[in-house]
Amino acid sequence: MVRSREAISIGDDSVALVKRLLGETARRVDEHLPQYLPEVGQPAQQVSEAMRHSLTGGKRVRPLIVLQSAETFALPGEQVMPTACGFELLHTATLVHDDLPAIDDSSLRRSRPSCHSAFDEATAILAGDALIIAAYDALAAQAQIEAVTPGAVLQVIAEFGTYAGASGVIGGELADIHGETLETDRELLEYIHLNKTAKLFEGAGRAGAILAEAGDHSIEAIGSYCRSLGLLFQVTDDILDVTSSAETLGKPTGLDERAGKQTYPALVGVDGAREHARDLAEQLVELADRLPANHSFWRGLVRLVLDRQA
Ligand code: IPE
Ligand code: IPE
Ligand code: MG
Ligand code: MG
Ligand code: MG
Repeated sequence: MVRSREAISIGDDSVALVKRLLGETARRVDEHLPQYLPEVGQPAQQVSEAMRHSLTGGKRVRPLIVLQSAETFALPGEQVMPTACGFELLHTATLVHDDLPAIDDSSLRRSRPSCHSAFDEATAILAGDALIIAAYDALAAQAQIEAVTPGAVLQVIAEFGTYAGASGVIGGELADIHGETLETDRELLEYIHLNKTAKLFEGAGRAGAILAEAGDHSIEAIGSYCRSLGLLFQVTDDILDVTSSAETLGKPTGLDERAGKQTYPALVGVDGAREHARDLAEQLVELADRLPANHSFWRGLVRLVLDRQA
């Protein structure tokens, strides 16, 4: 098939817009996050130190999605900040647990020692648990914002369990670990990518739209774009594990091959993985253009994820 270069041409202005909004989001989210972190004194102070340590330094892509999804359906992003924080808290919990010796056994995260390396394994398990609970606190705090309805907040909380729980991220992580012992298999790989990564992106996109009282069709549309974006995000993550450095990424490289992970580079090589990423990006541009507003942002986000270096 002759691939149309045209379809994937996304203007530099769109990418600049996304970078600016990502920077602003990171600043705002970092101002808001501490209110969801319990101040625990001795003898358990270490758990709150470990939570703060682990939250430091992420890109804040999932909060950006929550905020921009709300904006797309005419609700100012600032009004969904608690929910955006909830997604970041849960995501950070998954990173803390993902790095544990029993899972990916990684000593570096967000350019700092991973949680169990900075503290100890028991603290990392418990800090991850506490971050999951803090995520629910943040999602519940969304109900204090007058611009949203209690029904919409409840729907987000109810869906969150589906995306983050055993039928989402946790199932994906389990399959990812068991997949290390199996032959590379496309169907298994797609299950892993969808569940461990794409579902949280989907949940983030849907959450903003639900809180903005978008219609069912629109919620599906943004959810499906974000699910595909999550798939692209994980394909580029797997490519970077082969091609980048720990210094650039802020986490170790080469872990996937060493562990025998199910990845696109393992299945079809790095060039094949890049080809797959490009196909997903082309589909994403079409999905972006079907959204009702903010096309420049949603297109730019595709290119940012496709070309990301970290
Ligand atoms: C890392 O996510 C885990 C994956 C799903 C690949 P990010 O690349 O968004 O990590 P942070 O939040 O910026 O640290
Ligand atoms: C993890 O995927 C996705 C999560 C649910 C945490 P990876 O194991 O590839 O993420 P990194 O490379 O450690 O960030
Ligand atoms: Mg992992
Ligand atoms: Mg990992
Ligand atoms: Mg990875």
